Amino acid sequence: MSTLASTFTGLHFENPFLLASAPPTESDANIMRAFDAGWGGVVTKTIGLHPVVNVAGPKTKFLRAMPDSSRLSMQKQPGSALHSSWNWELISDKPLDWWVPRIARIKSEYPQKILVASIMAGSGSDDELRNWQQLAVACQEQGADALELNLSCPHMDRKDMGSNIGKDPELVSVVAEAVKEVARVPIWAKLTPSTTDIVVEARGAFLGGADAISSSNTFPSLPLIDPDTLEFEMNVDGLVSSGGLGGPAILPLSMAKMAQLTAAFPDRAFSGIGGVADFAHALNYILLGCGTVQVCTAAMLDHAIGPNLIKSLLAGMQREMDKHGWATLEDFRGIRRDRVVVHSKIRRPDSKAYHGGYEAEGYA
Ligand SMILES: Cc1cc2nc3c(=O)[nH]c(=O)nc-3n(C[C@H](O)[C@H](O)[C@H](O)COP(=O)(O)O)c2cc1C
Repeated sequence: MSTLASTFTGLHFENPFLLASAPPTESDANIMRAFDAGWGGVVTKTIGLHPVVNVAGPKTKFLRAMPDSSRLSMQKQPGSALHSSWNWELISDKPLDWWVPRIARIKSEYPQKILVASIMAGSGSDDELRNWQQLAVACQEQGADALELNLSCPHMDRKDMGSNIGKDPELVSVVAEAVKEVARVPIWAKLTPSTTDIVVEARGAFLGGADAISSSNTFPSLPLIDPDTLEFEMNVDGLVSSGGLGGPAILPLSMAKMAQLTAAFPDRAFSGIGGVADFAHALNYILLGCGTVQVCTAAMLDHAIGPNLIKSLLAGMQREMDKHGWATLEDFRGIRRDRVVVHSKIRRPDSKAYHGGYEAEGYA
């Protein structure tokens, strides 16, 4: 009999599927509904020390591909297919004080489920590094099973916050080290995909003491311009700013990041995120070496916390395991990691005519 139960960063998971840090996990009510629905764990909406103020107007919209043209639009049309989510939502608008008693309550009611607290602070000074520590200690004291460091929020003007930390391997390392100093629970570093070589930032995170890498957060992007109005489909007073793309469009992009990571650190722990809406999508991340998989966009579109989605993930993965005779996740985790190779390793019709781009055939 196969089981989806597994261990990741030393924590026991009933199943490897988590709701990612985002609106589905923005409240205790949502999180408890998610646990009832069957999610093995959740990562809370990112918690900070200071209240945030979001933009005036919608924070998230969904881009759709029209059925009978190549138009992509955020306007809903019958028969359209989801292309992606686009958001410029900041971290939780509830302060740490609001979260503290709720983390305790959730854990006391669902002790067997995994509750990961996502935290974020600035990193420009020792005082700010102490803010990371304060957040970490407050959440773990209430029973959070792990901490996810948000080093990847793409909507930051500050150079020492969110994805701007994630682009700087030294800052990544410094923040991870500061949190590790006080952490009694595993720490996961959520990195931005918006860098040249994510392996460099991941190395910084591991050097600082991170126990796992979560990837990807949303990809920095803009909404499209409506050809009729000439306005961005999401704007405030005609203006837009950096936001994040999630959902189906980022699955292949995020897989490429994950393939780089798991190849570079085959013995480390990874949590795959990006574009998962079906067990087959989640399977991709596990075959590349991930031990857990997180979901946001697809859950937002399924009754806010994905009750149908988690059922289909569980049933689909169980069927797949039975079909292949896999007893646990470890039987198939990472078995396609080594299939991602440099271009010159891909067979050519005539191998003698191929010179790796150094001679006649061009710049392969
Ligand atoms: C509206 C919205 C808000 C989000 N807020 C956070 C956040 O507070 N912290 C965080 O680490 N990631 C946040 N994310 C990113 C998601 O956790 C996830 O990494 C991303 O959406 C990719 O997964 P998906 O393709 O399943 O949506 C947010 C995403 C969306 C769409």
